[in-house]
Amino acid sequence: MERLDTERLHLRPFVADDAEGIFEAVYGDPVVCQHFCGITWSLSEVEQWCSFHHFDTRYGDLGYLAVTRRSDNRILGLVGLRPYVATWIVWQDDPHARHARMEMELTYALGQEYQGQGYASEACNAVIGYAFRYLRLLRLAYTVNVQNIGSWRLMKRLGFRFQRNLRPEAWDSVIGILDNHLLDGDDA
Ligand SMILES: CC(C)(COP(=O)(O)OP(=O)(O)OC[C@H]1O[C@@H](n2cnc3c(N)ncnc32)[C@H](O)[C@@H]1OP(=O)(O)O)[C@@H](O)C(=O)NCCC(=O)NCCS
Repeated sequence: MERLDTERLHLRPFVADDAEGIFEAVYGDPVVCQHFCGITWSLSEVEQWCSFHHFDTRYGDLGYLAVTRRSDNRILGLVGLRPYVATWIVWQDDPHARHARMEMELTYALGQEYQGQGYASEACNAVIGYAFRYLRLLRLAYTVNVQNIGSWRLMKRLGFRFQRNLRPEAWDSVIGILDNHLLDGDDA
């Protein structure tokens, strides 16, 4: 995966030394974790996570990138692309499907002190550009908890449209979809 630079940020694969930074910003903070990974993780779990996920983005097209600030190299959070099997979604446009769809989610989390400054929008726009221009993915689609207002607002800023998840017991009741309009009219 490419390393991505934006005006204020450098997005790059995680390395083992990032464990403390991403633990402090994201995985050790129950507020940030609430709608992201559910529970907080221990520092040693985060160390293993960093080492494991290094290889996804170092050698592959998909995975997590560390969001670092160019001015001081601080780790602000993470952003990434993750494939998943959408077994917990019943789509409005195909409610009786007997198969589960393979979809791609945009994932993101910032430390609380780095929120409200446009960093998530900046990082996500760079990853969307990579996903749509370079990987030529058809779309991004994933569920979000209706109470996760920060994520909702971000998705709206990024241009996502929304559908209800028709699965009644789903805790993630809203589906956000971002179509790749760069492919419109492209028969390839
Ligand atoms: C989702 C999440 C990343 C959104 O973060 P965020 O800080 O709200 O989003 P941004 O970084 O794009 O910042 C946008 C805000 O910064 C403001 N801002 C300030 N300076 C700015 C600048 N220079 N450029 C752009 N926006 C700026 C914007 O006006 C906007 O504020 P508003 O929401 O009050 O309108 C954050 O809430 C989070 O980490 N949540 C926990 C993890 C999580 O739930 N992940 C998603 C699971 S589905």
